[in-house]
Amino acid sequence: MQDRDLHILGLESSCDDTAAAVVRLDAQGRGHVVSSVVMGQTALHADFGGVVPEIAARAHAERIDIAVEQAISRADMTLHDMDVIATTAGPGLIGGVLSGVMCAKGLAKGLDKPLVGVNHLAGHALTPRLTDGIAYPYLMLLVSGGHCQFLIVSGPTEFKRLGGTIDDAPGEAFDKTARLLGLPQPGGPAVEQAAQSGDATRFAFPRPLLDRPGCDMSFSGLKTALLRTRDGLVAAQGGLYDHDIADFCASFQAAVGDVLAEKSARALVEYMALSPTQPTIAVAGGVAANTHIRKRLTTVAADHGTTFLAPPLALCTDNAAMIAYAGGELFLTGQRDDDTLSARPRWPLDTSQPAILGSGKKGAKA
Ligand code: KG4
Ligand code: ZN
Repeated sequence: MQDRDLHILGLESSCDDTAAAVVRLDAQGRGHVVSSVVMGQTALHADFGGVVPEIAARAHAERIDIAVEQAISRADMTLHDMDVIATTAGPGLIGGVLSGVMCAKGLAKGLDKPLVGVNHLAGHALTPRLTDGIAYPYLMLLVSGGHCQFLIVSGPTEFKRLGGTIDDAPGEAFDKTARLLGLPQPGGPAVEQAAQSGDATRFAFPRPLLDRPGCDMSFSGLKTALLRTRDGLVAAQGGLYDHDIADFCASFQAAVGDVLAEKSARALVEYMALSPTQPTIAVAGGVAANTHIRKRLTTVAADHGTTFLAPPLALCTDNAAMIAYAGGELFLTGQRDDDTLSARPRWPLDTSQPAILGSGKKGAKA
């Protein structure tokens, strides 16, 4: 434990959010978000149906120093007050990651401050320590538009991956479902809203891989099933009524909820075998915003005698506060990087596991 507060400047640019944040790590090791700036790029990519890596990289290069200036000024501090410069060094879109890495290297060199390269997924995975100060080990379900995996988190560099998606990430499946039904992007909130008035039992969509042991998941078959059913209905009745769209959304959401709940139950059994002192399952990622999914996970957690934790959405989706916090923990374990730090498009947290086959709409993640 350090004997004084540490201030860490964090940078994040691995996908389509340019972000910078200042986090204070107090002498007890608790993290506090002093400022957090996230400059999204949704509008830049809207015409292309997905993130365009070149456009993302250029926007990051143009904005990363602006994000840093804003984070420092909102913290009412100066760059010289920072004790550590932390940056996402992967995994993600290489051009974007490079922007953050180059900016952080320049700052660390110019200010003569220590540099720490952070794995973006570790940033997500350590978020419940930043928000709730929970003890290791805990179970993390990372579930967003680009990631989906179960991790037992035992330390800032100790991750055991229990399973993950072998194709689409759930957020990607929500986005594709919205597209198939003529709903706006991002699809998750639109599908969730439409599902509220829908009948979740009308369409029997598959629950892929539930018949197989383990915690791996698959979501790409769901959209194919939805496409086929939609086309059948359109052929039969000449189009879709609002109540059909609502029923599609509710049935789809129920299928995703069933898969995540059942696989979480399996992951919890493995996790509980470690006899954790304060058993916790935490979620991170945009899909963690979904009320139905949160309800399902709350029940599963209670059934296994564990606490369920869903950090505020601004810290679940991509942000630099999680990178600053993880950088602080890594700094305290002695990690120091230098100007040889490189951007890694692929960087699995658990190298003992075979690579996940799927990647997610926003590029290869792990
Ligand atoms: O974590 P995030 O902001 O970005 C990455 O993908 O890294 O997650 C965005 C994803 C999108 O696919 C979006 O549709 C999904 O999270 N999402 C939701 C909800 N809100 C956002 N999915 C289901 N229900 C929601 N309420
Ligand atoms: Zn992310």
